[in-house]
Amino acid sequence: MRILVAGGAGFIGSHTVVELAEAGHETVILDNFSNSSEKVIGRIEAITGKKITFYKADILDKGALEEIFSKEKIDAVIHFAGLKAVAESVQKPWEYYENNIAGTLTLVDVMRKHGVKNIIFSSSATVYGNPAFIPITEECPKGQCTNPYGWTKSMLEQILSDIQKADKEWNVILLRYFNPIGAHKSGTIGENPSGVPNNLMPYITQVAVGKREELGVFGNDYNTPDGTGVRDYIHVVDLAKGHVKALKKIEENAGLKIYNLGTGIGYSVIDIVKNFEEASGVKIPYAIKPRRAGDIDTCYSDASRAKEELGWEAENGIREMCEDSWRWQKNNPNGYED
Ligand code: NAD
Ligand code: WQD
Repeated sequence: MRILVAGGAGFIGSHTVVELAEAGHETVILDNFSNSSEKVIGRIEAITGKKITFYKADILDKGALEEIFSKEKIDAVIHFAGLKAVAESVQKPWEYYENNIAGTLTLVDVMRKHGVKNIIFSSSATVYGNPAFIPITEECPKGQCTNPYGWTKSMLEQILSDIQKADKEWNVILLRYFNPIGAHKSGTIGENPSGVPNNLMPYITQVAVGKREELGVFGNDYNTPDGTGVRDYIHVVDLAKGHVKALKKIEENAGLKIYNLGTGIGYSVIDIVKNFEEASGVKIPYAIKPRRAGDIDTCYSDASRAKEELGWEAENGIREMCEDSWRWQKNNPNGYED
């Protein structure tokens, strides 16, 4: 298939373009590079040995989208393009609703005008809020999000589901990611946060490479075995492969489907620090800090639906996740900057 990958220069998008190419699909990247670098294109080309078509464009720009859909024969869209910083979304709710929701509405409008009615959407475990039960299956009711970012995901799930209900020609697959970390084995593409990392693993790798002094552990009085937050970390390459499997489902006229993409295993913050130290041989100094607003005790998936219906299951364990995050950071201490 020929796939438009919106947000394809980002962390998860770039890894997915590699896996799509390796599975024999053609890809076209659309990205405004607001949170990524054009250098990623050359890195993907080096990994895959294939020329990558890309457009520097915004999903809010209807004219640009019209041109791309007129020129490229697109079969399906994988939609990663969005702003994703939780704390920033609390400060800039309008920007988040505009970019993520208005952007998606624009993209979907141009898609339907061009008869492209297949979409895989990047959703998040954040839609479960404080989950009603653990491990979280897709039947777990959606919850109250604690920030505008989370609401954009929850609302976009509803919007895309309603569009599919009204027009059965649409195939909509909502993928709820748990906590993606790791990087491609080559160590040439990876997560590249701008400024101070919000997420745990990039913060740890920046401490390891000497860019930050110590990790702040946000709370050790949670209701978990060691008191620190427990999450379901998943290797980004496994996540990327999940999209290739979801595309296969689209080819079977899936209708509307929802899948958790996680490993089903929960690790605490301290587990991650210890595993990273073992994998890298680098000590990570840390200090216990107050809880971070909006955080929950525990979040991990039951990903058996994806296994049964997509034939997908995460292959990499925590060791590979830590080794590969470290290889990327060590080889690229400043990410894609020189
Ligand atoms: P990322 O920021 O690395 O990638 C998103 C890409 O979209 C970036 O390259 C950015 O430049 C681009 N983009 C943003 N707004 C755009 C617009 N208006 N027009 C065109 N391009 C635009 O983030 P990521 O970690 O790769 O996440 C990809 C998707 O998965 C996002 O939608 C995110 O919300 C979702 N997600 C991420 C996580 C996570 O922890 N990383 C977890 C769950 C869901
Ligand atoms: C993991 C654990 C923190 C940083 C976020 C979004 C979610 C999804 C994935 C997009 C928690 C602790 C973290 C640090 C720490 N993104 N921590 N010190 O919060 O599970 O999920 O990313 O959809 O929507 O909310 O991930 O990596 O930020 O935190 O102690 O410097 O690490 O408290 O327990 P989170 P995270």
